[in-house]
Amino acid sequence: MDRRDFLRTTLLGGVAASSTLVESLAAARDTGADDLPVAPLPRPVEKLPELSSPRDTLFLTWQRDPCTTITIQWLSPTDTPVVIRYAPLTPALKSSSAASLLGKAIDAGTRSDTFEVPAASWQTATSRCHLFGRTDLKVHRCELTGLKPGGEYVFQLGQHWGLYRFRTMPAKANDLFTFVSGGDCGIGPPAIASNHTAARQDPAFVLIAGDLGYDNGVSAATAITFIKNYSSQMVDSQGRLIPLITTIGNHEVRGGYKGQRSDATYYLPLFDGLYRDTTYNVLDFGDYLSLVLLDTGHVSPIDGEQTDWLEKVLKQRQECPHLVVAYHVPAYPSVRTPQGLGSRLGTGELQRRYWCPLLERYGVDAVLEHHDHVFKRTHPLKDGLRDRYGLAYLGDGSWGKLRVPASPEQRPYLARVSRTYHLTVHRLEGEQRFHVALTESGKVADVYTTTGKRPARRG
Ligand SMILES: [Fe+2]
Ligand SMILES: [Fe+2]
Repeated sequence: MDRRDFLRTTLLGGVAASSTLVESLAAARDTGADDLPVAPLPRPVEKLPELSSPRDTLFLTWQRDPCTTITIQWLSPTDTPVVIRYAPLTPALKSSSAASLLGKAIDAGTRSDTFEVPAASWQTATSRCHLFGRTDLKVHRCELTGLKPGGEYVFQLGQHWGLYRFRTMPAKANDLFTFVSGGDCGIGPPAIASNHTAARQDPAFVLIAGDLGYDNGVSAATAITFIKNYSSQMVDSQGRLIPLITTIGNHEVRGGYKGQRSDATYYLPLFDGLYRDTTYNVLDFGDYLSLVLLDTGHVSPIDGEQTDWLEKVLKQRQECPHLVVAYHVPAYPSVRTPQGLGSRLGTGELQRRYWCPLLERYGVDAVLEHHDHVFKRTHPLKDGLRDRYGLAYLGDGSWGKLRVPASPEQRPYLARVSRTYHLTVHRLEGEQRFHVALTESGKVADVYTTTGKRPARRG
């Protein structure tokens, strides 16, 4: 009996959902099978991680322009709204009583600096909450707006005496800044090692494009553990919380593909601030960086409305200095088979048919792919063939998961490939982009650079 038969038998046999079944389901899906049956599962019987304070799951994300907003989120057993105090931070002055108080209270950082926050600078906002999937927990969310670009802020949650710091993105990309991307994390030691390596880069934010904790839409404990890890580990060298942007992957959704929004049981309650109406969206950073975040068929079909939307969004942004597209299932896979068989589509076939021509036509500067669990970089490609003016696809999602890749001889579009945990540091500096792949321990696996816009877009 193979793993899939075992799973089918178990589910048909009506065994109640348990953490064992949840683990079996997760393990089976991790083999790469894309067509596992969706079985009706009762509410899982899981022991959830303990949440003793908002700090356990506190993280930052965005719903709108990261130059002027931030969204603060955490999980809580209570639905009582929480008042958040926040203020711009002025470093260095160490004398006032407020300053020394703040200096002592900043619990996330590694520095013991003190700060001055004039009493009149404090503002307040209040969290709203909604249910966290099929649990009794609530997602608390509070968006701060009207912030100063390129600023640094401090905030405090209600009566909880923790004070936390964050920065807003600059209004213009004059200065160098970095962000980190990756996918396919999980909650095990490799993912934790990659988290620490990512945080050490002091990125402005982290983008995880699918397969976060591997909750499969059924395991609240997994989703909570992923957020707990992120919350405690993704703090930069100055003690600032590093915001998290995500896209949806198959392991966020019951059944993996062709799901409903309700099948993204634990993902959408956390990230539907950005994905309120659709499971794809674009996040514009001022006028210098746009992240186009797509759904590779997990809830929204690739063709049709999403493709029409993609063309419109890319066309409007083709002059953007840094136009980056991220999604989960690769157009140019390094492990799974790109060719279909009979009526069965090959991996990435719809992306290559509907999306790649648009990415190549409208001046996209970097494409981030995941799902196949290796490090890979393609040659610059145009219509699937090597072309010096083409577009390289960076991937393939191995923040915390690994598989054995095909070779460049087997897949001529691959320029580099290896069975290596990795994350990518994107350093944007004026017209230049450096894409540096780091292993989970911080060794450089690859450096790829691009400058300005590709000539292909002028055609
Ligand atoms: Fe994955
Ligand atoms: Fe995946």
